[in-house]
Amino acid sequence: MGVTLPALTPLEDSLWLTLCGRALDNRAPHPILADATADEVVRTVDYDYERLRIGTNLMINISLRAKKLDEVTSRFLARHPDAVGLDLGVGLDARLRRIAAPPTVDWYDIDFPAVIAARHDLIPSQPNAHAIGADVTDADWLDAIPTGRPAVVVADGLMGFLSHDEMVSLLNRLVSHLPRGEMVFNSYTRFAIWAAKHSRGTKSVADLIKFPGFDNPREPESWNPKLQLVKEILLSREPEVAQFPTALRTYYRLQAHSTAWSRKGTIVLHYRF
Ligand SMILES: C[S@@+](CC[C@H](N)C(=O)[O-])C[C@H]1O[C@@H](n2cnc3c(N)ncnc32)[C@H](O)[C@@H]1O
Repeated sequence: MGVTLPALTPLEDSLWLTLCGRALDNRAPHPILADATADEVVRTVDYDYERLRIGTNLMINISLRAKKLDEVTSRFLARHPDAVGLDLGVGLDARLRRIAAPPTVDWYDIDFPAVIAARHDLIPSQPNAHAIGADVTDADWLDAIPTGRPAVVVADGLMGFLSHDEMVSLLNRLVSHLPRGEMVFNSYTRFAIWAAKHSRGTKSVADLIKFPGFDNPREPESWNPKLQLVKEILLSREPEVAQFPTALRTYYRLQAHSTAWSRKGTIVLHYRF
């Protein structure tokens, strides 16, 4: 079926990697995330996902990290039905449809204007969802977000594309604009950044990666004194590993014995402020 998408830059195009990862997971016999909307969007635009060469390991990592981000977000929103939620670098993800947020929550999807325009045609709208077309490194887009309400900020696949200074400045602006809340994003150690720049599955985004990575999950606490680590979620230690295909399950179970080794893979970092 034909949908005319706006022309996307290579950075905006990175959204296909994560979207297709979740769509392929949905088609697997035992999906980790079961994101039917991702599958539907990929089918609607008839995107040629095969050229991304997403292997099983990458597909599982993309889907499981999204699931962990969803879990933190929906737990926060269940405790704070008056909250605002922000999804930074949302791409064509429909997180709000997955997490069943209370209708009293105001949810903000933020990405470059062309991506927000593409969402308009592809993602069914929801009454409490708002879209902001902006570069998250700009200062003024936060003016559209209400202050005075608890906030949960989620970023899936964004941080790798920010420089260290851009990330520090973004986190500081969020923490000074929002009174209190939680922040959760997938992060990378220095090794994981090196691996993302050299792996076949992430070849399509390798040249766009600006983030140097950090090894100590407490490092952001030194960027802003209000940020406190709640949990470093190492995917190798999550219960869903039991659902992985045998060879991957064996690998991840071995990896789980070592924090240093587990940190070489996908990490989800959860902070409060
Ligand atoms: C790998 S994709 C992830 C998309 C989505 N979160 C997902 O999980 O499918 C990265 C997204 O971040 C967006 N992005 C990167 N840098 C950005 C910036 N400075 N401001 C706004 N969006 C940005 C890209 O346009 C893209 O949609």
